[in-house]
Amino acid sequence: MVSMAMSGRRKSLDFSGFVITSQQFLIISCLMVSVAVAQELAITPPRGWNSYDSFSWTITEDQFLANAQIVATTLKSSGYEYVVIDFLWFRMRLPGASVTSPGFDIIDEWGRPVPDPVRWPSTAGGKGFAPIAEKVHAMGLKFGIHVMRGISTAAVANNTPILGAQGSPEGAGGRPWSAQDIALTSQPCSWMPGCFVSVNTSSEGGTAFINSLYQQYASWGVDFVKHDCVFGADDLSLDEITAVSQAIANTSRPIVYSLSPGVRATPSMGSAVNELVHMYRVTSDDWDTWGDVALHFDVARDFAAAGLIGAQGLQDGYSWPDLDMLPLGWLTDPGANKGPHRPTNLSPDEQKSQITLWAMAKSPLMYGGDLRQIDQDTLDLITNPVMLNINAYSFGNAEIAAGPLLGSQALPVLSLAACSETKGASWAVKKSSIPGAYDQLCWTIPTASIAQTNSEGCLNWTMSSLSSISGTWQQAMDSKNNIGHLGNAHVWSYDAGNMCLDSLDYRSNLGILHLSNLEAHAGIMTSGQFLPCSKQKSQTWQLTSEGKLTSPSTGLCATVDAQVNVKRVWAARGSDGEFYVAFFNLGMNSSSITLSVDELTRSQNVNVTSGSGQPSASTAAPSSESSWQCTGTDVWNNQIVNVFAQSLSAIVPSHGCVLYSLTCTISN
Ligand SMILES: *[C@@H]1O[C@H](CO)[C@@H](O)[C@H](O)[C@H]1NC(C)=O
Ligand SMILES: *[C@@H]1O[C@H](CO)[C@@H](O)[C@H](O)[C@H]1NC(C)=O
Ligand SMILES: *[C@@H]1O[C@H](CO)[C@@H](O)[C@H](O)[C@H]1NC(C)=O
Ligand SMILES: *[C@@H]1O[C@H](CO)[C@@H](O)[C@H](O)[C@H]1NC(C)=O
Ligand SMILES: *[C@@H]1O[C@H](CO)[C@@H](O)[C@H](O)[C@H]1NC(C)=O
Repeated sequence: MVSMAMSGRRKSLDFSGFVITSQQFLIISCLMVSVAVAQELAITPPRGWNSYDSFSWTITEDQFLANAQIVATTLKSSGYEYVVIDFLWFRMRLPGASVTSPGFDIIDEWGRPVPDPVRWPSTAGGKGFAPIAEKVHAMGLKFGIHVMRGISTAAVANNTPILGAQGSPEGAGGRPWSAQDIALTSQPCSWMPGCFVSVNTSSEGGTAFINSLYQQYASWGVDFVKHDCVFGADDLSLDEITAVSQAIANTSRPIVYSLSPGVRATPSMGSAVNELVHMYRVTSDDWDTWGDVALHFDVARDFAAAGLIGAQGLQDGYSWPDLDMLPLGWLTDPGANKGPHRPTNLSPDEQKSQITLWAMAKSPLMYGGDLRQIDQDTLDLITNPVMLNINAYSFGNAEIAAGPLLGSQALPVLSLAACSETKGASWAVKKSSIPGAYDQLCWTIPTASIAQTNSEGCLNWTMSSLSSISGTWQQAMDSKNNIGHLGNAHVWSYDAGNMCLDSLDYRSNLGILHLSNLEAHAGIMTSGQFLPCSKQKSQTWQLTSEGKLTSPSTGLCATVDAQVNVKRVWAARGSDGEFYVAFFNLGMNSSSITLSVDELTRSQNVNVTSGSGQPSASTAAPSSESSWQCTGTDVWNNQIVNVFAQSLSAIVPSHGCVLYSLTCTISN
């Protein structure tokens, strides 16, 4: 019985053949205990709280336990159970220490990071996180930590010995390994290069080191590991992910294994790791700007379409494409050296859109705000029972294909890509005839890819030779009012706030200021990186004769495509036969969105049978004369809806969404 249920489930990629109802879920959970299948984890997308969005790296024991306590009393009943300490718990908070500073990390005699006892007093005396894990467990919660790629450069500098790989005392077999034998210093973490480098997992010393880390985490009582700087286009390290998943299995402790970040992650990257992990980020960091939220739609659609939602995970578990934490409530700034000090920048409509997409795409839900300051509206949002039900138990989750992009329905998106893949805009300089005014760098999107509006736009720029810059960069910027320039290549920016396009595809937590107002300023969305203007080579751009805008230092091209359809429709089914439909409006103007019930049922590959309200495999599809009757709720407006037409329509506010839970029947 048990093994049949499990093998059936394991083969299912998208749940379409296996509906987990809450009842079945309970049965599986019980069986899990009785047959001791310890590693059957992440049966539904994991939920919890993570410290990063509100504390960056600066969190202390008191702050962490206070947040955990609120998870236990307020959120656990809604399924939030993992409390995760995000990055750099081993870094001393001293003058000069920051998210990229080497030289402040504490390691043990075996080169393994240990918590800073000043920030984590109860870890002192070599106890590691065990006392804190114990307190978390006593609250009925699960304890998680963030860890970095490979090995700390502090261990490499000290050439610490590797635990479990010191050779036999008799000298027979094996040899003593130490940090410098296993460190691959040419493979640093791209966004923290001075602090962590890869380890050679093909060597006995390398696997011993990884095992020594995870044995230690398991001995502390860790239930969740967020492993950073190993996934996404810049840092993908299948060797290390494989070694860590084996090390986790080897601990025989049930540990949820999560990967981060997911810069330019693709479904094929997802397929390469899903059986090694339980969740993996599919975007770079998500912060509280509309641009960040909006840029999750395409990637969520693509991972859903690839059947990766709820695919086989590590051992007997499942795996979940992860859209990142929820930066709601009371927050800090990306990469800051300080804790929470400001409210989220997302409007109430934008917050609803974010959590609705996260629910429809079954992303893990990790709340990021400081819970000591959570307000009732935010609490209501993240504990909405229909939203949570969709997030955990819905199936058939998909974006319903939008039609061709139509003029005002499309937004141009500025992004960075390998020049060979660039097929977007062609760029040209537009000289200003007005003395003193900026020249502009303008893009044109080929008319084939976009119907009418938004096909052209400009960003301000100037160019001149390096030798003409007198004095410091700051003076050059001041004299030109923030427009920089280097050599025969060029830096460009737009007016609001000394921001320059940077070709370094860092994840967005390193002091990157977000351009929440770029959409308003330039009428475009960006997935490229704008950073404060500097003399960095990565901000140097060259315009080729074919109209490509290239970065000589990274080889990336800046491109504008008409990619974002502003009207999005997602659908899924519930275990009681209901349909979930979400309309999203990514655009700047409120807009009507319509879905025919035929399209809905086609997308869900079900026929709806008269009377029962249940999808059925045996009843013929309705003729065009059939009239559909759907009843249900408009979830966020908390209203009963009745649809007697052949389509469902709503006026959706700018950046907002409408979420329906519907039961449909037909009559002739
Ligand atoms: C990794 O270790 C293996 C086994 O010791 C060795 O053959 C290989 O050259 C090492 N790889 C690198 C990149 O150093
Ligand atoms: C499991 O970990 C132990 C150290 O605790 C190590 O000796 C053993 O080789 C590991 N096994 C695998 C398969 O990595
Ligand atoms: C470009 O500069 C002009 C002033 O010369 C300003 O009015 C305009 O808003 C700027 N455009 C952008 C996209 O920042
Ligand atoms: C959006 O609304 C503004 C006024 O609020 C209007 O000027 C603009 O033309 C509208 N844009 C579109 C694409 O409808
Ligand atoms: C729905 O009905 C159509 C027409 O009878 C049939 O071809 C199709 O297989 C049915 N689909 C399902 C999922 O039962």
